[in-house]
Amino acid sequence: MKSQFERSYRTAVFMAVLFFLASFPLFAGDTGLAKTPPMGWNSWNKFACDINETLIKQIADAMVSSGMKDAGYQYVVLDDCWMAHSRDSAGKLVADSMRFPSGIKALANYVHSKGLKLGIYEDRGSATCQGFPGSYGHEADDANTFASWGVDYLKYDNCHKVGDLQSDYTKMRNALDSCGRPIVFSICSWSFPGPWVTGIGNLWRTTEDISADFAEDINHGTWTQLSILSIIDAQDSLRQYAGPGHWNDPDMLEVGNGMTNGEDRAHFSIWCMLAAPLMAGNDLRTMAQRTKEILMNKEVIAVDQDPLGIEGFRFSSKDSVEIFFKPLAKGDWAMCFLNRGVNPKNVSFGPENGDVTDTLSGITTGFQHIAYAVRDLWSHKGIGTSEKDLKAVVPGHDVLMLRLTPVKK
Ligand code: GLA
Repeated sequence: MKSQFERSYRTAVFMAVLFFLASFPLFAGDTGLAKTPPMGWNSWNKFACDINETLIKQIADAMVSSGMKDAGYQYVVLDDCWMAHSRDSAGKLVADSMRFPSGIKALANYVHSKGLKLGIYEDRGSATCQGFPGSYGHEADDANTFASWGVDYLKYDNCHKVGDLQSDYTKMRNALDSCGRPIVFSICSWSFPGPWVTGIGNLWRTTEDISADFAEDINHGTWTQLSILSIIDAQDSLRQYAGPGHWNDPDMLEVGNGMTNGEDRAHFSIWCMLAAPLMAGNDLRTMAQRTKEILMNKEVIAVDQDPLGIEGFRFSSKDSVEIFFKPLAKGDWAMCFLNRGVNPKNVSFGPENGDVTDTLSGITTGFQHIAYAVRDLWSHKGIGTSEKDLKAVVPGHDVLMLRLTPVKK
């Protein structure tokens, strides 16, 4: 028989090993942040360089008063053009004194006082895309500056590059790790950077910039602004890189920026099926009711924010109708019919379609032996069970989005 001492010694060693292992993050850059896709607002899509502290404060106010905060939106992110044209005599970044006369620290305090978080923008090169000072060679200094201001999120762009992609983003990752403040790291290099990024960023752009156009790209000569459909098509083959703490980012939302209601709904639904970060890009101060109903549809947001953190996948594509599936916690599934065409389409789904299996997680619907209650997440109504054939009409450039929940028998 083992002595009491031997047993407690073994227990102590076991506990010490556990503690040692637990003190290491799962990967470099695992800060415990962004366990679900980050939600917030970013200034670029609507305001580009036309930003100032009054606007940002009003946006923070509107994020609370509109109900966006209650729906889960949290980060208020300043994009390009917040800076002065040069660093100060000590080499530190400074805010543009006309646009942000009170400085970024005061703005962060204001945003924090609303229960929200502040995000900011920089670039890995010698200058930002709009020509303001870049962070190349100043990574540690800039990360410390952001931390001292109370910044909670950094979008880090890819213009005027000097160094190598992976080493530049790694340098800023290390600088953030040492700055003494948890800061979400949003990598923006306009295409999937490579599998290494999962250990560096909390989110990374997978494509060039989005446009508020559902189906047509805009060619700018040296670069292309992508339609919603082009961005959706570019996400195939990337889903294995997404998961709690690290997400594919198909770019900020264009909901409320000029597309039709159906297009906005389809854009938002597919972003949620893809477990994408949800960064609103419209003017929150003047949102139409129809825009609010999309951005704050809590049932659709719950699909995006599902704790399993599995990015959905395209199950089928036929006659301009695609069906996406996303496994959710507790055996639920999200399902979304996307009509890419302009004409309404009859859609159907039933036992003859067989089981749906997610090859990545191995999760299967088991339609043969599990019945699901089916809920329409846009009409907010139950529409029957999976035991019956589903038949519906999906308008052009629109979706039918459903949640399937196992029915206890
Ligand atoms: C790049 C990014 C955009 C935006 C602009 C700002 O184009 O991809 O999202 O940040 O720069 O200049």
